[in-house]
Amino acid sequence: MLDTFLTGHPVIDGEHKKIVNAINSVADAVAAGEYDRCATLLDDFLKICIDHFKSEEDLLGKLGYPRLKDHALFHGELVLKAKAVKVLCMDQRNPDRIDRCFQEMATLLIEDVVKGDLQFVSFLKDKGVVSPY
Ligand SMILES: [Fe+2]
Ligand SMILES: [Fe+2]
Repeated sequence: MLDTFLTGHPVIDGEHKKIVNAINSVADAVAAGEYDRCATLLDDFLKICIDHFKSEEDLLGKLGYPRLKDHALFHGELVLKAKAVKVLCMDQRNPDRIDRCFQEMATLLIEDVVKGDLQFVSFLKDKGVVSPY
């Protein structure tokens, strides 16, 4: 459902790849209606996201990225939404709500988190942390 989004920073791009793989696995489990598996996969997804958000925020903080605060808010919202999907999966009683909540989480990931990450690419280039090409 989501191709790898590239920033040019090898650590960040490697972590993004894991996030993409993890959310694709969750999407498959949701589509199959396998909610037990979904809850377990969401734990993996959450751990990968939380680790990544920390390393990204540490890097951007060290470099003085001016929009870090707003970007960190997007990270926090995604974590909350993923936890909400997990609660609904554990409850299992309402597949429509699971689908809807998962879609909202996927939209949040693409619209806020991915687009927000693409906004700091030029900043990383200016700082000489990633290659300008
Ligand atoms: Fe981010
Ligand atoms: Fe990121």
